[in-house]
Amino acid sequence: MSNSIESVLVETRVFPPPASAVQGATISGMDAYRALAAQAERDPDAFWARMARENLQWTKPFTQVLDESKAPFYRWFGDGELNVSANCLDAQVAKGNGDKVAIIFEADDGKVDKITYSQLLARVSRFANGLKSLGYKSGDRAIIYMPMSIEAVVAMQACVRLGVTHSVVFGGFSAKSLQERIVDVGASLVLTADEQIRGGKQIPLKPAVDESLTMGGCEAVRKVVVYKRTGGKVDWTEGRDVWMHDVEAGQPDACAPVPVNAEHPLFILYTSGSTGKPKGVQHASAGYLLWAILTMKWTFDARPDDVFWCTADVGWITGHTYIAYGPLACGLTQIMFEGVPTYPDSGRFWDMIARHKATIFYTAPTAIRSLIKACEGNPKTHPSQYALDSLRIIGSVGEPINPEAWMWYYKNVGRERCPIVDTWWQTETGGHMITPLPGATPLKPGSCTLPLPGITAAIVDETGEDVPAGNGGFLVIKRPWPSMIRTIWGDPDRFVKSYFPPELKGYYLAGDGAQCDTDGYFWIMGRIDDVLNVSGHRLGTMEVESALVAHEMVAEAAVVGRPDDTTGEAVVAFVVLKRSRPEGAEAQAIAQQLRDWVAKEIGPIAKPRDIRFGDNLPKTRSGKIMRRLLRVVAKGEAITQDVSTLENPAILDQLSKSL
Ligand code: WTA
Repeated sequence: MSNSIESVLVETRVFPPPASAVQGATISGMDAYRALAAQAERDPDAFWARMARENLQWTKPFTQVLDESKAPFYRWFGDGELNVSANCLDAQVAKGNGDKVAIIFEADDGKVDKITYSQLLARVSRFANGLKSLGYKSGDRAIIYMPMSIEAVVAMQACVRLGVTHSVVFGGFSAKSLQERIVDVGASLVLTADEQIRGGKQIPLKPAVDESLTMGGCEAVRKVVVYKRTGGKVDWTEGRDVWMHDVEAGQPDACAPVPVNAEHPLFILYTSGSTGKPKGVQHASAGYLLWAILTMKWTFDARPDDVFWCTADVGWITGHTYIAYGPLACGLTQIMFEGVPTYPDSGRFWDMIARHKATIFYTAPTAIRSLIKACEGNPKTHPSQYALDSLRIIGSVGEPINPEAWMWYYKNVGRERCPIVDTWWQTETGGHMITPLPGATPLKPGSCTLPLPGITAAIVDETGEDVPAGNGGFLVIKRPWPSMIRTIWGDPDRFVKSYFPPELKGYYLAGDGAQCDTDGYFWIMGRIDDVLNVSGHRLGTMEVESALVAHEMVAEAAVVGRPDDTTGEAVVAFVVLKRSRPEGAEAQAIAQQLRDWVAKEIGPIAKPRDIRFGDNLPKTRSGKIMRRLLRVVAKGEAITQDVSTLENPAILDQLSKSL
């Protein structure tokens, strides 16, 4: 749990929404919020049915709303049919938004490309037709391993147009991680690019695909479609590899969207859990899109003239819901950015907001914290140097935002006039769950405030009983909601075990610890399981441990998180080698080897910040590793706990020394 929790809970500042934000907001004022929440509470089925009728276009209307007969495998709108891509693109063109810019793409080097809704629809259709001619159809699964690009959105939208379920893998994952996902999801198609460009550097992508396909288990992959981003040299497997532009070439501009059942798997997105390998979180089509649209309207108060910018990568859930689907389904103009916030300098975000006149800006606390450091150190890049007056709402996602970072963001970026929406949600929830409404909710720095209408969030103890305000407990969602995870792909037992433990009365267990204050505001305290949050990315400690022990030199490893001012948490690994404990320069060299190894096994985001070598790990007499103590050691704090149950207390001294 985060270090700053105590400082968070004594936070007393309250910032009511400015009148300008309240006026004309989709949900305007607390009374409107309470009224909508009460409606959802009174008759959930009627509420969700109305929302689904008003916000989605159905090719076959649904008659059932929630089907609980196989709980917790809930079904929503289960006899309806629709196509998500048609709801995002065709619907906009039909509404007269054809000539409106859908995406303003800014490349790493600053080059800007714009695409309108009609053009996007035509591109998606051509590409979908091309995929169809390669034999792909509803029910197939595609892995997308692409950089931030209009092409990535085209790839996702083209898949769903055909009913092909996609699974996007973040471009920072290694060949090994990619292969595991290809195998698990049973992909027959891989979509990638030659290279990606970030911070002025060209980073190859296709070699990881080539390598992953030689690792075994990927025999179902028939085609690898390659977007030519840089024209860098790539190896080519004839018959398997094909350029994206060749797939599109000569295809008609129209492609009939394939209607699918509301519950058809729209995508599978892998995320870390507390044990074992990453879980393939399966989302359905209709419920997911409905919530993407509603949260765009409620949390971001989306309006037709907005210029929306979510800085997430499409490889994460935030980039799915708030780039590839939500903004398009709401007909907004959005900014998409290829690069990094610090290139060419740390003013890049502010400069882009000013140039493109962004009205809604949505980013992660880790980016804010690193920019605070960089911009305070380089006044030329400070937000005060840029015209940010187009902004009206700013948002935060992915991890707790500490009050200091919140205040800096509020003052310097929002100029004390833009509400901050601190959105709590997860890969599994599909969209925002607990968040301020910009035109209603009084803000408290560090709190994600109140649940959205229809979301029955609560804090309970280990028997599922509500805990009183001010007491910590498990964050749960008591009733199902349309965009919830449907299952873990290929592992329904794990789905039930992870999210619906029997002692919690059938509530959805989020895996976060939290508490409510007397105003009913939620304060997230961090994960209750062995999941780390490093720069807003979820990582399982077990994943990193498995990667380390897979190295031939390593006998044993234990991984914990250490609070970090910039990245939220940092990975600290305690390692026992098969040989004697190394020291000095040799230890440094081996630590570097192990870091590189983890990058190869999982991806650079999983690299341990700190590696400590020991002759052993602290264990109880029954041989259990005491991770609790390791967390204290990792922080550099003195051990005050009783260590008499340890078999080898002296080991703690050895492990407390950094290299
Ligand atoms: C954490 C990202 C505090 C939380 C959308 C959750 C947050 C995990 C917040 C999900 C927030 C996300 N305040 N903590 N506003 N948003 N988290 O699946 O621990 O990558 O369980 O989804 O991030 O991470 P995921």
